[in-house]
Amino acid sequence: MLPKKDPLMVQIDLRTKLTKLGENIRDLPTLPVVANNIIQITQNPKSSALEVGKAISQDQALTSKVLRMANSAYYGFPQKITTINHAIVILGFASIRNLVLAVSVFDMFSKRSGNFDRGGFWKHSLACGVTAKLIAKRLGINNFEEIFISGLIHDLGKLVLDAYFGEEFTRVIDLVKVKGIPIREAEQELLGLDHAAVGGILANKWNLPPQLLKVIRFHHNPPQAGESMRVVAIVHVADVLCRAAGIGNGGDCKVPCVNEQSWKLVSLNKRLLVKLFSEVEIELAVACELLTSAK
Ligand SMILES: [Fe+2]
Ligand SMILES: [Fe+2]
Repeated sequence: MLPKKDPLMVQIDLRTKLTKLGENIRDLPTLPVVANNIIQITQNPKSSALEVGKAISQDQALTSKVLRMANSAYYGFPQKITTINHAIVILGFASIRNLVLAVSVFDMFSKRSGNFDRGGFWKHSLACGVTAKLIAKRLGINNFEEIFISGLIHDLGKLVLDAYFGEEFTRVIDLVKVKGIPIREAEQELLGLDHAAVGGILANKWNLPPQLLKVIRFHHNPPQAGESMRVVAIVHVADVLCRAAGIGNGGDCKVPCVNEQSWKLVSLNKRLLVKLFSEVEIELAVACELLTSAK
């Protein structure tokens, strides 16, 4: 039997680990210059489509990926979009920025070092994006494409942990399996902070739009999101619903409790849920194609 550790030593140990992890996350790569430029340009209401087009065109690989995504069945345009400027006019600034962001996230986190089920993870993320978008549409929210990307990258912190802290994250996943606890609990126990906090640090470093940052940081506790609570609540509910429906893999088999205030905000009932999930099934298939085009 292992000797019991002094609780004070455990505390100090955890604090050191936490400081080190926090420092290492802050050292993570910045967004590629082109992607960063595009995010900043598209957040400025005075920017023109020409400026955005010029910025994207500086990166050939990015240009062709964005065009492939714009032409995927997800958007379903009857005519082929052949130039970035055309894509910007048709899809708008926000959608283009989201595509650029999605491509960058895939590129930056393509390497994996842990034992995390990436296939299952992307399916969970995609389903969450689609479900959040459909809930937003039903509630009459205009920028539902924005909500799709929020759902798609809400668990950014898990990608960070898997790609850059593989050893630690492998232990987290092992602990989830051995103890049968939720992944957030295992992260807290072993790392002293959870994936939402990790993702929040990176989103902040990347200067992501505030609403997106809030989703990444507070998707497990929407009331903390302040004025962005509505959107964060939609992603939170979508996350819980996709876990309950068993679509993909969020890292554990536990269905988290839904936040009561958030549930009231999305006002769903049994009949609407059945309808919603039949739509999710259809939309998920086309969204899969969008994801493949980004890789
Ligand atoms: Fe999460
Ligand atoms: Fe999730």
